[in-house]
Amino acid sequence: MAVRKGKIKGLPKKKKGQWEDHYTRKAKEEKYPARSVYKLQEIQRKFTLVKKGAKVLDLGCSPGSWLLYASELTGPSGQVTGIDLKEVSIPLPKHAKALVGDILHLTPELEEAFSCGFSVVISDMAPATTGMKDVDAARSLELCEMALEVAAKRLVSGGHFVCKIFQGGDFDAYVGEVKKHFRQVKIFKPESCRKQSKEIYVIGVGLKVTGDPHSSI
Ligand SMILES: C[S@@+](CC[C@H](N)C(=O)[O-])C[C@H]1O[C@@H](n2cnc3c(N)ncnc32)[C@H](O)[C@@H]1O
Repeated sequence: MAVRKGKIKGLPKKKKGQWEDHYTRKAKEEKYPARSVYKLQEIQRKFTLVKKGAKVLDLGCSPGSWLLYASELTGPSGQVTGIDLKEVSIPLPKHAKALVGDILHLTPELEEAFSCGFSVVISDMAPATTGMKDVDAARSLELCEMALEVAAKRLVSGGHFVCKIFQGGDFDAYVGEVKKHFRQVKIFKPESCRKQSKEIYVIGVGLKVTGDPHSSI
């Protein structure tokens, strides 16, 4: 894929005095719209989930860092489809697209766009936070449950799942649910996560069954 050059249009302007860390600066230098790209990079380095030619579904894809990075990993023979409540305003390669929609209220058009068998489903979805830990964890869990439902339905047999979750009281129960669907389940906190953050990633390796018994990776 061609190296991306120049400023990325649509990036929000930094407010005066806004905290900026090493990963934020690095993302800016490397022309990614968000520092979250380094979390997926760390996950990829450890688990090698996204292969060349893979079909990836990216849930909660805006502003687009994971979309860009996943499309670099798949190369043009792959396909990356993202969905988010918010539009993605950065330029994307031809084999990547971003749809606007709510994963909790899928329209028939979105269902249609999700219809093909994906090799990897990645979810970095996060609710608008309230600062109330229990409320935030419950909203995160709702998104994670939907992400798991989509993954179990849309992945090919042997496909992989990455899901960000805010750790709360129901965390163990959620991991138990993921274990029902995947051969192996790993819990991973990337170095690039902010230390004070309650977020962590649940990784499902190898979907056990699929709706389409003929497809697999
Ligand atoms: C941390 S950001 C994702 C960053 C992205 N991975 C990247 O690297 O650019 C979380 C995203 O989840 C999205 N989100 C939250 N609830 C959602 C929902 N119900 N449906 C779709 N997207 C949702 C938010 O709009 C937000 O853009």
